[in-house]
Amino acid sequence: MAPDRPFTSGAIDSGSAFWESYIASRPSPPESFFRLIDTYHHDHGSQRTSVAHDVGTGPGNIARRLLPYFDYVVGSDLNGDALAVAKQLTQAEQMKRMAFIKSPAEELLAAPSPEIARPGDTDLVLVSECIPLLDAPKALEVFEKMLRPGGTLAIYFYGRPIFLGDNAAECNGLWARLADCAVQCFHPIKGTPSYSSYHRSAITLHSWLDNIELPKQSWKQVERIKWNPEWPLCFCGPAGYDFELEVVDRTQDGESKRIFDHDFWTREMSAQQVSGYLSSVFARLS
Ligand SMILES: C[S@@+](CC[C@H](N)C(=O)[O-])C[C@H]1O[C@@H](n2cnc3c(N)ncnc32)[C@H](O)[C@@H]1O
Repeated sequence: MAPDRPFTSGAIDSGSAFWESYIASRPSPPESFFRLIDTYHHDHGSQRTSVAHDVGTGPGNIARRLLPYFDYVVGSDLNGDALAVAKQLTQAEQMKRMAFIKSPAEELLAAPSPEIARPGDTDLVLVSECIPLLDAPKALEVFEKMLRPGGTLAIYFYGRPIFLGDNAAECNGLWARLADCAVQCFHPIKGTPSYSSYHRSAITLHSWLDNIELPKQSWKQVERIKWNPEWPLCFCGPAGYDFELEVVDRTQDGESKRIFDHDFWTREMSAQQVSGYLSSVFARLS
């Protein structure tokens, strides 16, 4: 049996109901967030907007959001079921400007891709809610070769919900306890074949992605923006893991910026959506 991997194994064979609930309960970034990426691309890059590639696309929820900004959008994922759902959820008109391909991110250079999106021809590589699941150094080498000169790599990750307003402390504490218990269901992790991917993912989140080095010879004008960094990026706390967590920092001077804005991505959530969010994070338990 293949080792369990955080999120990835649980989401394989989970069917369309899982992905529909995933889309309904997960945050949907506001348009201003995509404009931020678009502005970065126009201000720093070649300004060409022919091809975007959404790595770890899952049900294509984010790939479709790129259509207003790029002529053609490719979504890739190692999960064939998720890609089948992505195709189902994409309208025929949208599909004329899209392709979904099955491949691990780390092997994308060898994957059959549409003529328009050959290696070296991609203007934006987007990695949404996926980087902790990847072998980042390997994947970054691939992304560099996929991009055309002046292309943009955008990586982002959101973590647990942060409850505001009345009962905020109680709700935040409740989420933390539920999330810790949910991960503890996967114990033991340490000493099993799953350990390396759980460890990698936990360290990446605990470090706010700062463990991921973006070597200067490959990546220019690196910006790392952390919104509301007084909160952890992990879905659960240290009690969720049966191994030690450490913060690993491979950032370079001048890359990081912190923004405190509790209205960023704010939305009302029903109890059902919070429950769906929790189930979508700990996919194997749902
Ligand atoms: C949490 S989902 C993110 C889906 C979507 N990008 C979003 O932002 O909502 C993570 C996705 O990454 C995919 N994934 C995990 N490991 C991967 C890998 N090595 N290569 C490509 N995709 C991977 C999973 O199959 C899953 O569909």
